[in-house]
Amino acid sequence: MTVRDALGGAVPALRAAGCETPELDAEVLIADALGVDRAALVADPERAVPPAAARVIAERVRRRNEREPVAYILGRKGFRHVELAVDGRVLVPRPETELLVEIALELPRGARVHDLGTGSGAVALALLDERPDLIVTASDASAAAVEVARANTRRLGLPLEVGVEDGLPAGAWDLVVANLPYVREDEWDSLQPEITRWEPREALVSGADGLDAIRELVARAPADMRLAVEHAPHQAEAVRALLRDSETRRDLAGLDRVTVGLARG
Ligand SMILES: C[S@@+](CC[C@H](N)C(=O)[O-])C[C@H]1O[C@@H](n2cnc3c(N)ncnc32)[C@H](O)[C@@H]1O
Repeated sequence: MTVRDALGGAVPALRAAGCETPELDAEVLIADALGVDRAALVADPERAVPPAAARVIAERVRRRNEREPVAYILGRKGFRHVELAVDGRVLVPRPETELLVEIALELPRGARVHDLGTGSGAVALALLDERPDLIVTASDASAAAVEVARANTRRLGLPLEVGVEDGLPAGAWDLVVANLPYVREDEWDSLQPEITRWEPREALVSGADGLDAIRELVARAPADMRLAVEHAPHQAEAVRALLRDSETRRDLAGLDRVTVGLARG
């Protein structure tokens, strides 16, 4: 079997399964199974695929046909300059969440930051990787997610403390960054199968208007604590109203994505 044969088998199968980017997914899964990058596949479609790699590819295509996210199949996801191990215990970090890191990068030397609802540790670890002078802590209500974040912390060799805690722990920070769940209950069924079949529902859904977790954070935060809260674009106005001196920042796609402001206390 050659790369051309492998792609020829995988791409139509993934397309038929409803995957949005069948060519890209097939290339990523096959290139990784062969230990090469995607450019090498394109450059040499007649490259032989050894039988062991062919079995790995077949299993990966089977999983992707079930709409399992590519990141879970590979067991990793890149986020800014770090690579995080991910599995079904945590949300796959999204590119739009990088905005939370960018906002925290504006802090002065030695500032204290807490990443609330850290999941895989993405925001906290990417931040420490770029700004080792910051004092960063993280927490999540899910003990399973905290296991993943701690494993990523050890693997990356970064000094992050991660605690299991429902809501904002007691502490003093110059900034709390939070990508908490913000999907409305009634939105869930309309989301992609990659999300509804595979990602943890409790990491995404937060009440009738999607704002329960954010409201709870704002209510519990001490007065004047600075919060940077990720949300859906249509929630920007509601989140601004929860905070004082608030402003909303746009993500790379130009969508209102993070509101920064002070807790009312
Ligand atoms: C949307 S995921 C984001 C994960 C990670 N920050 C990221 O961007 O990849 C939300 C995370 O918040 C956690 N979470 C939900 N409610 C929480 C609460 N009340 N207190 C702390 N963490 C919470 C979930 O367990 C989940 O890991």
